[in-house]
Amino acid sequence: MDSEKKKYNLPAGYSIFQTAFKSNDFVSNPIKFISKSMEIFSGTYTATLGFNRKLILTQNQGFINYILKENHRNYNKSKLATERAVAFFGKGLLFSNGDYWLRQRRLIQPGFHREKLQGLYTIIINTIDDYLSVFPTGKSIDVYPLANQVSFNILIQSLFDIQLSPKIMEELSQIFTSLQDFLIKDINQPFRRIFYPFTGAENVELKKAARLREIFTGIINERRASDKNYTDLLDMLLKSRYEDTGEAMSNEQVIDEVLILIFAGHETTANTISWLLYLLAANIGAAQKLTASFNTGTVEDCLNNDYLKATINEAMRLYPAAYVTERVALEDDSFENFSFPKNTIIIPFFFGLHRDKNLWDDELKFLPERFIDDASLAKSKNYFPFGAGPRMCIGNNFAMAEMSFFIFLFLKKFSIKPSGQIPGMRPLITLRPDKVLLDIECITE
Ligand code: HEM
Repeated sequence: MDSEKKKYNLPAGYSIFQTAFKSNDFVSNPIKFISKSMEIFSGTYTATLGFNRKLILTQNQGFINYILKENHRNYNKSKLATERAVAFFGKGLLFSNGDYWLRQRRLIQPGFHREKLQGLYTIIINTIDDYLSVFPTGKSIDVYPLANQVSFNILIQSLFDIQLSPKIMEELSQIFTSLQDFLIKDINQPFRRIFYPFTGAENVELKKAARLREIFTGIINERRASDKNYTDLLDMLLKSRYEDTGEAMSNEQVIDEVLILIFAGHETTANTISWLLYLLAANIGAAQKLTASFNTGTVEDCLNNDYLKATINEAMRLYPAAYVTERVALEDDSFENFSFPKNTIIIPFFFGLHRDKNLWDDELKFLPERFIDDASLAKSKNYFPFGAGPRMCIGNNFAMAEMSFFIFLFLKKFSIKPSGQIPGMRPLITLRPDKVLLDIECITE
């Protein structure tokens, strides 16, 4: 164990050799490995990637607040995490930094305010209704791929309120899955890059990324030429104007942002919906309470249903889709007794924060009531399902609406039971469940 007491006072942790030695354990099960290390080093530790490359992982709420909010100006997204992603998904909000990011964020943020999103509710509800009308029933159904498909359809329909052919929908979905899978392997196993010139694997994916852009260019050109009125996200992106110049985004910029909204918004929501269904199946009391609370009111009224909100919040506490994030220090910095040089990468470990037994009673239990008994919890410093500070999730209201509508419509139509198998966690870019097998029965005609 190495406690680096030179010019900087880095948290205790692993030396370069220990980090390399343990890298297999880390890659095979990052959540288990990081959680264990958090226990050993009391919630914050250093890992060493190279002689000049330190990583500080932390589930300390004060430290996380400091990095993401109080001193956010000193922190960017690191190249380590974004450079490869940009090659496939462009430099939209999630992967950009500095002045470019700020300008884009200011431009796009108003479109995601709650009142603006109301124009999308009908699209979201209809897409869910269509999907649930062909949702399979029976024993041991894996709901993860189904949730993934419905959340993909919801984002595509909310972006482009047009009838895309099933062939194009299938192509978009396949390319997205393929690019995401490739990116995960590329980041987790960087040695693979040595073989790309021989296998051509990277070029194949880059061609798919180019095909995505080609499809979106076609849709945008058609839209620019149309005189019909739309209220979808594409309309919002095309009509937004920069404050300083009054100009609109170029086609390439619009495509970058479209790609990022799909990238950031579809898997996160699919994961959360799947974890939610599993938790509700396993906690019949909570499911019954929820169903009873749906007896009055329309689907849109469910956005004001406190118990539903609490249920979603509790699912995101236990299984935060964004289980970690990362930042790089632009200048030397310090927090409490720790100090560290510029270029240090800081990894806020939301999963650990959300399950910290010093902060949460019965931390491993699914208890939606905790968010009712103490309404301030959802906005507290111990809880960051959507991140914090200026880079907080831009789609949080969209996601809450989508997940609420889904659970409302799903529980009106189906009853669920656990299949007896507890889903494993697959912490890739997001925290995916590894198969959520449920027994599903239709309760309406
Ligand atoms: C349950 C669903 C979701 C979760 C848990 C989630 C979580 C997060 C988190 C934690 C961040 C901050 C990352 C960081 O600080 O590094 C983030 C950023 C972002 N999210 Fe979400 N998200 C969800 C759904 C969505 C949806 C539906 C959209 C779009 C429609 C979206 C779009 C974005 C974008 C564009 C960013 C980057 C913002 C920026 O850097 O300015 N997210 N999300």
